[in-house]
Amino acid sequence: MDIQKVGVAGCGLMGSGIAEISAKAGMDVLVREISDEAIEAGRARIGKSLGRAVKKEKITEEDRDQILERISFTTAISDLADRDIVIEAVVEDLEVKNELFGTLDPLCGEGTIFATNTSSLTVTDMAAAVNRPDRVVGLHFFNPVPVMKLVEVVRTIATSDEAFERTFAFARALGKEPIAAKDNSGFVVNLLLVPYMLDAIRQLERGVASIEDIDKGMMLGCGYPMGPFQLCDFVGNDTTYRIAEIMFDEYREERFAPPPLLKRMVAMGRYGRKAGKGFYDYSGDQPVPMEL
Ligand code: 3HC
Repeated sequence: MDIQKVGVAGCGLMGSGIAEISAKAGMDVLVREISDEAIEAGRARIGKSLGRAVKKEKITEEDRDQILERISFTTAISDLADRDIVIEAVVEDLEVKNELFGTLDPLCGEGTIFATNTSSLTVTDMAAAVNRPDRVVGLHFFNPVPVMKLVEVVRTIATSDEAFERTFAFARALGKEPIAAKDNSGFVVNLLLVPYMLDAIRQLERGVASIEDIDKGMMLGCGYPMGPFQLCDFVGNDTTYRIAEIMFDEYREERFAPPPLLKRMVAMGRYGRKAGKGFYDYSGDQPVPMEL
């Protein structure tokens, strides 16, 4: 059975991107947010991203209008009951995710797949909490969702072949390149990327080089589109801190331990681009490295 009706829970940075690309692929999208304010913020985020795509001549204005028409919003979880797939992109908190799937479980049809965009929690912990563990998968997108080609499709030991294959085909239908991953915290990409970002912060703590030079080193030396500190600010230092804590808790390996500097930055609200300050100050025309 093809997936046509897509439910997205949470319309933040990731949820809005997932809703946008699903509608762009011609699907009927229903987004659930917790309040009218959150819906308006999500709608604006999608509008801004599509505006950018129009400006970059990736889509026409007519395409944009048709994409927006395919996305509706609700605050009622129960409205997601008729969806073929529900993708959750709410906060990285197992209790919140389990409450959402737990509420939906008795309401949704037999065939509905529950997909989580978690970046570091284990999918098994969500599958074990519902009566459809065979239809629970990980579907991990990358930021910015409309631009990054990769999606990790994650199966647990309980995921059925059918649910996995339908989700894999769905990822392809979204125009993404899926890879299969087993359910271990961090899957494939974050297992490598998170220690790299944390190591860059540890280098800074040790005074190895400046923020700018470490970024320049990885961009010019390795051809990365962003240096590690630009990437930390882009992902959000609060998000990276939370991911590192979850991964450290899972593996108890030092390389996942959040460095003290990261913790201090989060305490000071220096979350990165979204806060206007992180490893760089974004208040001017160009980002300027902060004194730390
Ligand atoms: N819709 C469609 N296409 C869009 C778009 C949109 N809303 N916005 C931009 N694009 C296209 C542009 O047209 C351009 O395409 P082209 O190369 O064919 O012209 C391309 O996307 C790049 O856009 P820009 O030229 O505007 O931007 P930059 O060249 O400055 O690149 C970037 C921006 C893509 C963010 C790049 O810096 C990058 O790849 N950075 C690394 C991002 C990264 O590593 N993300 C993963 C983070 S980790 C994660 O998400 C996992 C989580 O669990 C932590």
